[in-house]
This record gives sequence, C-alpha cells and structure tokens, in this order.
Amino acid sequence: MVALISPEHAEFPSHPRLKLGVMASGSGSNFEAIAQSIQDGHLNADIQVVIYNNPGAKVVDRANRFNVPAVLLNHREFASREDLDQAIVKALKQHSVEWVIMAGWMRIVTPVLIEAFRDRILNIHPSLLPSFKGNRAVEQALEAGVKIAGCSVHLVVPEVDSGDIIIQAAVPVLAEDTIETLQARIHAEEHRIYPAAIAIAAANSL
Ligand code: GRF
Repeated sequence: MVALISPEHAEFPSHPRLKLGVMASGSGSNFEAIAQSIQDGHLNADIQVVIYNNPGAKVVDRANRFNVPAVLLNHREFASREDLDQAIVKALKQHSVEWVIMAGWMRIVTPVLIEAFRDRILNIHPSLLPSFKGNRAVEQALEAGVKIAGCSVHLVVPEVDSGDIIIQAAVPVLAEDTIETLQARIHAEEHRIYPAAIAIAAANSL
C-alpha cells in the first residue's frame, strides 16, 4: 500500500471507472468533496448510491444536489448490527456498487459487510492513525497535547480504525485551538485527500 503524508497536490493514479457506494450518518461534507471531485474530472468514478442511517441527515440534501439516490437504512429498525449490514450489502449490490466509501458512518460494521466487499471498503478517520482511534478523535488529540494532528484514509477491517493506511494529511494544532477550530482544519484536509485516496486504493488493487 502507498501511504503519502500531506502531498501538496494529491495525485490521482489511473484506474478503470469506479462504481462507488457512500455510507454517511450526518452532514456528508466528505460525500460532497468526492462528488465534486468526480464532477471536476479528477476522480474517475460514479457514486451509485448514498446509504444513510439517520432520518433527516444533511447528506440527503447534498445527494439530491448531485442527483445521487439516497437510501435510508435506519439502524434503530434492525435487531442486530449483522441484520443492518445485510440490508446495506443488499442495497449496495442492487446499485451495482464495487467500492464502499464510509464517509462519517458512525456505526461499527460487521464481517457481513466487510466480507461482502473484502479489501474494497474505505473509511476516513480524523486522526493520524494509529493514534486516537474510536470516538472523539479530535478531542483525544487536544487532550493529549499533540502539536500535529490530521486525518487518515484506511481500508476497513473488523478491528475499528485499523486497516492499511492509504493516505494521511497532517495539520498543526494551535495553542488557541478548540475542538471546533481543529476539527475544521482537519475537515478541510479530509476533503482534499479522500478523493485521491479512492483513486490510490483502486490503482493499488489492480
Ligand atoms: C469526518 O470528520 C470523518 O473523519 C469522521 O466523520 C466526519 C464526517 O464528516 N469519520 P462529514 O459528514 O463528511 O461532514
């Protein structure tokens, strides 16, 4: 796997056109960055579907703007994580998805999903992994007093936030930072690296 740290210009290696399915729980700004990168001709892909789990999630408005179908699979209506993942796999396959892009999906996924798309699921996490896995990563970084924070795109494996790292970007932590200001700085980098990470992962898998 290639792992790049803070490339000035994210590079997009060539690969066949990809069929993506995005999973998002909330705002969906990473979805939008990926959709915009496709529209701008950088990422060679189509987003076939967005799966979301929270009714009213803002990602739906963004999906509508990019004419991407959005499918609600509300985890509260499923008896187990596995049942939810089964429904997710079904919806992704119905939309001919080849690569699964977790972009702010706030649920733990199970082998049901991971096996169905083995080595073809990416996640973005707001820390320089392997530091600060799990929830509240930005808060954890501030509490630890690190001077450099960042974000990582990695392959999804059963252990949370632990698969091969595809690309990372670093940002400084400033003395006056709050969770919100640091989060915003990290978010901007996420939007820059995620589209390129998808291309790199696809090229690596050829
Ligand atoms: C991002 O910070 C990502 O790292 C984390 O969830 C957030 C999603 O943001 N996994 P958005 O919904 O893409 O705006």
